[in-house]
Amino acid sequence: MICQLLGVPYQDHDRFQGWSRRLISSATTKEEALQATQELGAYLTELVDAKDREPADDLISRLVVQQLRAGTLTRQEIVGMARLLLVAGHETTANMIGLGTAALLQNPDQLALLRTDPNPALVKSSVEELLRYLTITQSGRRRVATEDVTVAGQLIRAGEGVIIVAGDAANRDPDAFADPDALDLARSARQHVAFGYGIHQCLGQPLAPEWSCRSSTGPFTAGSRP
Ligand code: HEM
Repeated sequence: MICQLLGVPYQDHDRFQGWSRRLISSATTKEEALQATQELGAYLTELVDAKDREPADDLISRLVVQQLRAGTLTRQEIVGMARLLLVAGHETTANMIGLGTAALLQNPDQLALLRTDPNPALVKSSVEELLRYLTITQSGRRRVATEDVTVAGQLIRAGEGVIIVAGDAANRDPDAFADPDALDLARSARQHVAFGYGIHQCLGQPLAPEWSCRSSTGPFTAGSRP
């Protein structure tokens, strides 16, 4: 889906999946990550040039025609956007489907519940709960406080850095979710932060549940977009 949207030829998937897997793996060294970034960047630069020669009906072509040619975006900026969208859009959704299936198989009572009564409301709450339970983007997100702020009694001074642990902390917070370590498909988990929160909240959020599960009723049904 993300290839179709961006206009990346799917027959190249072995190559870009290899680069993107290396980019997100915690086992990747700094040198390997740099090499994967450069190789993926070179591949996408060639693709942007190809779209410039022959635009098609896809996002990269639109960026080339409407932004690159108008001088509002550089080639490098378009390559950067394509890289982010390809990695952020593919790895997350693909892994969510695989790990979601594994989580259901590990919780046969929940799987049975879904199989017995797959009504739209339960399917919808199941998607939210699986997003909360798995919180697949597990690397901590880094932020810098722009002003003094107190969180749960802890003062964070302006300029100090914080690493936000969504999976093991926020999405497993017993004050927010009763029995947080349990997979409970019927619970209402809509306030989870599996898509982040605030200005950098996932851009693909309205698409992701659609792709993971076609029962969603429209944009912004998942998570807690402010
Ligand atoms: C189940 C699927 C997905 C999950 C769990 C997920 C999760 C996330 C998370 C946690 C963030 C970081 C938010 C933050 O920093 O506060 C993020 C950002 C982002 N995601 Fe997703 N994502 C998913 C699917 C997608 C898809 C399908 C796309 C593209 C079509 C996408 C594009 C992006 C982009 C561009 C950002 C960066 C936004 C920014 O920094 O302003 N994501 N996503």
